[in-house]
Amino acid sequence: MSFLTGKDAKPAEEPATEVATGARLLPRITIQAFCEHSQTAELVEAAAHDRRMSKVALTTHNGGLEGAVESYKSNPTPNLIIVETSLPTEEIPHALDRLAEVCDASTRLIVLGHVNDVLLYRELIRSGVSEYLVLPTDAHTIVSAISDLFAAEGAAPIGRTIGFVTAKGGAGASTIAHNVAWAISQHLKQDVLILDMDLPFGTAGLNFNQDPPHGMADVLAATGKVDPTMLDRLMSKAANHINLLTAPAMLDKTFDQGERDFEQVMELAQKTTPVVILDIPHAWTAWVRHTLATIDEVVIVAEPDLANLRNAKNLSDTIKALRPTESEPLLVVNKIGVPKRPEISPQEFATSIECKLLGQIPFDAVTFGTAANNGQMLAEVAPNNRINDIFRTIGMHVTGRSAPEAAGKGSAFKMPSFLKLKKA
Ligand SMILES: Nc1ncnc2c1ncn2[C@@H]1O[C@H](COP(=O)(O)OP(=O)(O)OP(=O)(O)O)[C@@H](O)[C@H]1O
Ligand SMILES: [Mg+2]
Repeated sequence: MSFLTGKDAKPAEEPATEVATGARLLPRITIQAFCEHSQTAELVEAAAHDRRMSKVALTTHNGGLEGAVESYKSNPTPNLIIVETSLPTEEIPHALDRLAEVCDASTRLIVLGHVNDVLLYRELIRSGVSEYLVLPTDAHTIVSAISDLFAAEGAAPIGRTIGFVTAKGGAGASTIAHNVAWAISQHLKQDVLILDMDLPFGTAGLNFNQDPPHGMADVLAATGKVDPTMLDRLMSKAANHINLLTAPAMLDKTFDQGERDFEQVMELAQKTTPVVILDIPHAWTAWVRHTLATIDEVVIVAEPDLANLRNAKNLSDTIKALRPTESEPLLVVNKIGVPKRPEISPQEFATSIECKLLGQIPFDAVTFGTAANNGQMLAEVAPNNRINDIFRTIGMHVTGRSAPEAAGKGSAFKMPSFLKLKKA
């Protein structure tokens, strides 16, 4: 093991300036293209080779608009869908309506059409389609359209920030954060970045069996100078779609972070990765409070006992007061059924702290212990364990997806941004 701290680690190389090349890298988004003609598929694939697209995961499929509708009846939607359609003008809006019904709220849409009609263009843009490009076009035009959506100056950050915090040390926030990150990456096929904020004791590296030379300490040491290219060099890939900024987990110095010290890395993470999971330590410092006040979703992890209940109630009340207009904290009760331990029922727990009960996870010393000691996720050591379904449900909820699959897709989903305006 190389236990390098931020101070001792080699500084990252200077980032290549994007300004010099005039091309901003696109964030780590997932794009799926549904084409009708092989020339269009070739065009989209050529776009995927553009330098700006180097972080993008792009796949092409057959079937055009109809193929997309069929596919998303049973699959989650990516950050961006590109569909080709050769339907006549009057049929396009209706066909897009059907696509909207099976898409997630945050998904964007670019339509490649064969009709050069300014009225159609205006109608589609007004109804929320991000761009309508007339074929034939070129790869550069496609990449520029995608860049305008996701990498333009002032483009909305794409990343959703989800923090896991324990009511009492050891209740399992880190384990649940990492496994939920895994579930999101597997099921949504979207990139997830885990920020291990527990600088002295964090376990993200251990849990993913990684010991990278760089991590969170380097990012914090370079505050003010970090850009997406540098962030990219400092994070480590733990699995397909999962990147980590690991904690140094060294005690050679103390970590007395200021209230806003994590702000820059969080902003940057949100600009570059669709899902950002924060592993927040069990502490009550200015920066923990500030983080809980500013992220998109907070999940409180608690064991079903009295001390956890008291702390969870305090956390829940404080978080609600800190962010009165934001989403309320969610509760996961963990380690249910420890032999012979008296317990508060999860429902009662949730009612007393006035939080939505998002998950109940049984105590399972063998499975969790094996996963922890192997540096693996639960889904790797026990793929058929039903606890994986709970991680998945938590993951889908905190990323704004529909509730469990049993609820079915379609109507359970919020209308996506495209066609939303028209329906309103
Ligand atoms: N449901 C469970 N059943 C059995 N063991 C579990 C369960 N959940 C977590 N654990 C184990 O509990 C221990 C503590 O978990 P973890 O490190 O995730 O807690 P934490 O709340 O992040 O702790 P800390 O307060 O140190 O940040 C780990 O060894 C983990 O494997
Ligand atoms: Mg932890």
